[in-house]
Amino acid sequence: MSNDVMYENWASIYEKYTCIRGRIAEADETAAFLDRCASGGNALELGIGDGRVAVPLSERGVKVEGIDNSDSMLKLLAKRTDLVKAWKGDIANFRSEQRYNLVYCVYNTFTFLFTREAQLSCLRSAVDALNDEGILVIETAVPDLDGLVNGQKTSTMLLDHENTILIADVHDPLKQNMVSTLLWFSGTSVRRLPHRVRYVYHQELDTMAECVGLKLAERWEDWARGAFSGSSKRHISVYRRTGL
Ligand SMILES: C[S@@+](CC[C@H](N)C(=O)[O-])C[C@H]1O[C@@H](n2cnc3c(N)ncnc32)[C@H](O)[C@@H]1O
Repeated sequence: MSNDVMYENWASIYEKYTCIRGRIAEADETAAFLDRCASGGNALELGIGDGRVAVPLSERGVKVEGIDNSDSMLKLLAKRTDLVKAWKGDIANFRSEQRYNLVYCVYNTFTFLFTREAQLSCLRSAVDALNDEGILVIETAVPDLDGLVNGQKTSTMLLDHENTILIADVHDPLKQNMVSTLLWFSGTSVRRLPHRVRYVYHQELDTMAECVGLKLAERWEDWARGAFSGSSKRHISVYRRTGL
């Protein structure tokens, strides 16, 4: 199953899920960070989803556009705003007439491209969409392989009086893939939400970026610009064009 088909299932719970994960609470801080990167210009979001970040960014005066391959997610966005223009497409391979000050891909979306080729192709498309001074921002998790037993693990993501959310992961080390199913029990219902990622370590991401003419300019562990360290759970990497 490809991730576009998978995300169709996520749309109905996306807002609740991102709220539980603290992602709605940090959306304004994310937008403030990206606003500075856009330097008063325009921005393109890869995997725009329901506009969690694009909407507050556009409210700051940045002209935001976006791409997503899920009809359901695009519908959520359209319901929320008409300020943000978005179209259906594959971030692994896109072309835009427009050039942007900022292209960004947040909340692990880059790793939803579950082959190395798709990830490289996405970076190539992103560089082509940037203007000469343009900036690419990628936010992604530091790979977490702790706790795997025979390449598998099941963890509890949330347990409260209404919800139990479990995540079952199966690791494919050859492809750097983590194939996961989130099981969300709520009342008498259970939802099964599958997804697959190709995790990347920050140095591999830098190497891929260099291959397409980008150079790391900044790296942080959160949107408040905390220092990235060996214990960071994610990174926010800011790349500039090298002019190659
Ligand atoms: C984790 S959500 C992030 C949504 C939004 N960026 C946010 O931060 O809340 C990932 C989004 O990427 C989209 N997506 C996944 N793979 C994609 C692909 N190959 N091309 C376009 N969109 C994709 C999904 O439909 C989903 O909306």
